[in-house]
Amino acid sequence: MRLTILGGGGFRVPLVYRALLADRGKGRVTDVVLYDLDPARTAVIRQVLAEQAAGHPDAPAVTATTDLDEALTGANFVFSAIRVGGLDGRAADERLALDEGVLGQETVGAGGIAYGLRTVPVAVDIARRVAAVAPDAWVINFTNPAGTVTEAMSRHLGDRVIGICDSPVGLGRRVAAALGVDAGSAWFDYAGLNHLGWLRAVRVEGRDVLPGLLADDAALASFEEGRLFGGEWLRAIGAVPNEYLHYYYFARDAVAAARTAERTRGTLVRDQQRDFYARTPDSPGSALEAWETTRMARETTYMAENREAADAGERESCDLESGGYENVALALMRAIAHDERTTLILNVRGRGALPGLDDDAVVEVPCLVDANGARPVACAPLADHQLALVTTIKAVERAVLEAATTGSRPAALRALATHPLIDSVTVARRLLERYEARFPELSYLRA
Ligand code: G6P
Ligand code: MN
Repeated sequence: MRLTILGGGGFRVPLVYRALLADRGKGRVTDVVLYDLDPARTAVIRQVLAEQAAGHPDAPAVTATTDLDEALTGANFVFSAIRVGGLDGRAADERLALDEGVLGQETVGAGGIAYGLRTVPVAVDIARRVAAVAPDAWVINFTNPAGTVTEAMSRHLGDRVIGICDSPVGLGRRVAAALGVDAGSAWFDYAGLNHLGWLRAVRVEGRDVLPGLLADDAALASFEEGRLFGGEWLRAIGAVPNEYLHYYYFARDAVAAARTAERTRGTLVRDQQRDFYARTPDSPGSALEAWETTRMARETTYMAENREAADAGERESCDLESGGYENVALALMRAIAHDERTTLILNVRGRGALPGLDDDAVVEVPCLVDANGARPVACAPLADHQLALVTTIKAVERAVLEAATTGSRPAALRALATHPLIDSVTVARRLLERYEARFPELSYLRA
C-alpha cells in the first residue's frame, strides 16, 4: 500500500507517520512518498521520521521526490497537505486584512479568500495529474481552505477526492467528554461547511443528550467551545458551533484581539518553527524531540486570541495531544482499503444530503465510508440562520472558484465584497489590490 504525501516537508507529516507506525492492521501502508517543492524542509522531516521508525522493523519505507508525476505514479492514496506561498504567504493573508480593519485568518474571511485564490489553481493542476497518472488513487485533501479546495478538485476527480478536517472530531470528542458519554457509541449530528458547522444533537441509544449539556453551565465551562461561546449563546442557537464560528459570532472581538496581538498566527507559527526547519544532520540533539517541543508550542497557542477575547483560559491538556487530523486520515484510508465500514465527518459533494445546497456543493457532514468511498448521510435541515450563513459562504467559495478557474478579477472582487466579514466594497477593492501586489501567483486575474 503506497501513500503519497503532497507537502511532504510539512510540519504535521510526523503525526501521520506516527499513526501509520501504530497501525498493526493487515494491508497497512508500506511505502510513503514525500513530495515537496522544498527538499531542505523534506530532509528535516525525514530526520524526524527516521527517529520515529527506530525499533519498528516493519516501519513504512520513506522516499522523497520533487517530481509530481513520479510521486503520484503507483499511489493508492494521495494526501494533499500543501501550503501555497508557505507560512510567509499565510502571514501576509492575515496581516493585509487586519491592516484594513477586517479579520485576518488562515481560512476565514479575506485571508481565506486570498489563500483560496492562490491555492485553487495549484490544486486543480494536481487533480489533473492524479486523473492522468493515478486515476484509481483516492485523494484525501487537507489543503486549506479545505472546503473550497475539495470542491475544486471534485470537478476533476468526482467522488475520489475527500476533504478532511480535525475540528468536527475534536468538537465531538470534547462534547462527549463533557457529557460523560463514549464518543465511539454516540451519533454526532454535525452539519455545515468546513470550519462552518454546528453540532445539533448527540444521540446515545436513540436519545439526544445535547439539551442536557446546553442547560448545564458548569459542564459547558469544562470544554473549549463551551467557554468560547458561553451558555447563553449556545442555548439561543440550540447547538454547539465549530470553534471557527467564533470569528463570525464574535467578529468585532476577534478582530480587535488579533489587531492587538504583536504577531499574526502565521507569523507566530513561522517563528516557532524556524529553528526546527534550520536543522541539519549535524545539529545537536534529536530531531524528533525538537519537533515535539515545537509542536507543543504551536498547540498551546492555538486560537489564543479568541480564547483571550472570550476570557476562555488555557487549552485543556487533552486537546494538546492532537489525534484528530492524522487519525481521521488513517480511519478513512483503512475504511476504503479494507472495506471496513465506518462513519466519519468528511467534506464531500452533498448530493442533497444537506437541504438547501445543490448536489455538487461540497459540505461537511457525517458520511458512511467503505471500499466504495464516502457517501454523505441525509441530514436534518439547518436552522434558517445557519443555512443563511452556509449559503452565503458557499456563494463566496463559488466566486473564488470562478475567479481561480476563469481568471475573472470581478469574481475575485465579488468573493471579497460579499463575504459577511468584509463590510465595504471599498475595503474589498483595496484588499484585492494589496493581495495582487503582494502575490505574483495572483497575476492570472484579469478584468
Ligand atoms: C485546525 C484546522 C486546520 C488548520 C489548523 C491551523 O487544525 O482544522 O484546518 O489549518 O487548525 O492550526 P495552526 O496551528 O496552523 O494555526
Ligand atoms: Mn480544518
